[in-house]
This record gives sequence, structure tokens and C-alpha cells, in this order.
Amino acid sequence: MKTKIVLLGPPGSGKGTQGEKLGSELGYTRLSTGDMLREAVRNGTPLGIKAKEFMDSGGLVPNDLIIGLMKEKISEVEGGVIFDGFPRTVEQADALEKEIEVDLAINLDVEDEELVARLTNRRSCPKCNAVYHLASNPPRKEGVCDKCGSALYQRDDDKAATVQNRLKVYRDNTFPLIAYYKNKGKLVTIMGVGSIDEIFAKVKKAVQ
Ligand code: AP5
Repeated sequence: MKTKIVLLGPPGSGKGTQGEKLGSELGYTRLSTGDMLREAVRNGTPLGIKAKEFMDSGGLVPNDLIIGLMKEKISEVEGGVIFDGFPRTVEQADALEKEIEVDLAINLDVEDEELVARLTNRRSCPKCNAVYHLASNPPRKEGVCDKCGSALYQRDDDKAATVQNRLKVYRDNTFPLIAYYKNKGKLVTIMGVGSIDEIFAKVKKAVQ
């Protein structure tokens, strides 16, 4: 089984959803820079204070902050690991290569129209980071997390205007990583459309 896996894909392509399943069903540790940054913002840490303005506008948090954060986390992890939302720039990918050897990059491919519909309908749990979709993956009780019972919220960057900027930022900065990992012979592209379980079956096949 592959043990060092990068999840690539535009905002809303399902990285968090599939990464969470890889964690809960196959035992990988999921390292999500987005979740770590949102927690830092909630806790008002120095990192959170610096990151907030970039996140609110849909831009990227500066490489040096992210690379420092991930180096610390990587040193603590044992066993299989899933990188969700990292790397997002070639500079971050080069920094990751210096820390560990990536076995596989899974690129979740989804059209923009579907991404916008998913993000604007997403509701997230501030406590356990579970994500829901109002139509395709609703919580059992409206507004309440199935897993931990916390009140769900809509991320500020999931509002329509910010979503468009996040898609542009993805195209300009992160899309080149598809060629980066393809050139290393480590890329698998999976169509990220269909049921969550159908996609997970393909993800599981790729990691085995
Ligand atoms: P981050 O939290 O990483 O956001 P993102 O990459 O934009 O990804 P998302 O969390 O929006 O989407 P996802 O692909 O995980 O999709 P999900 O599974 O939730 O980053 C946020 C911000 O932090 C960035 O904008 C940036 O500012 C900063 N940041 C983070 N990392 C950084 C880095 N490395 N460098 C610099 N800055 C960084 O699914 C989306 C929705 O679709 C959900 O509602 C879900 O239920 C639904 N869904 C999932 N799969 C399906 C399906 N198959 N069919 C229908 N609906 C589905």
C-alpha cells in the first residue's frame, strides 16, 4: 500500500471528504493545511492572525508560513499520511520532497460549475472538521454535525464571490502541480464526480 499520498484538486473537488475516509477506513493520518489554519484563526494564534486575511479573500497563505507548519507536523507523524491541501505551489512541493518521498499524487478532477454548487452548499463542523452538502450529503439533523453534535456553519470563503477567486488562485498556482507529479510518474487522475463511495472505491484502488 502507498503510504505518502498527496491529494490534489481544485477547491470543492472532494479532497477533505476522500481524505477523511482514507483516514477512518484505512488508518492514514490526514494532514489538512486548511483545517490547521482554520483552527489557528479560531484560536487567535500568531499564525492564525497572519493567515486570516489571505484565507478570507481566497488567496494563498505565504509559502514560508505553510512550509514551517507542515515540517513540524511531518516530524510528528508515524505510518501512512495523506496531505490534503498541501502542497499548493511548486515551492511547497519542492519543500515536501526534501522532507519525505511522496509515493502517489491523486488528482480529483471536477468541472467548475459543479465545484461552485458544492462549495456554496457546503456546511462544515468547526469542532471535528466533518463536511456536509445540503443536498448530496446532508446531516441527519439539520444544522447539527452527525459525528460530534456541534452546530454546523458556512465557511466565509464558501460565499459565491470568494469561491470564484479561489478557483482562479487554484488555476494560477496549484494546477501546475499536476504536471509536476506527472513528470515524476506519480500522478493518478480520478474523475471526482459520482457518489462519494464510488469515488472512494477508485481512490482505494489507487493507493493499493
Ligand atoms: P482548504 O480548506 O484546503 O480549501 P480547498 O483546497 O479550497 O478545499 P476545500 O476544503 O474547499 O474542498 P475539498 O476539495 O476538501 O472538498 P470537500 O471534500 O470539502 O484551504 C482553505 C484556505 O486555506 C485556502 O484558500 C488558503 O487560503 C489556505 N490554505 C490552505 N492550504 C494552503 C497551502 N498549502 N498554501 C497556502 N494556503 C493554504 O467537498 C466539498 C463539498 O462537496 C462538501 O459539501 C462535500 O460534502 C461535497 N462533496 C464531496 N464529494 C462529493 C461528491 N462526490 N458528490 C457531491 N458532493 C460532494
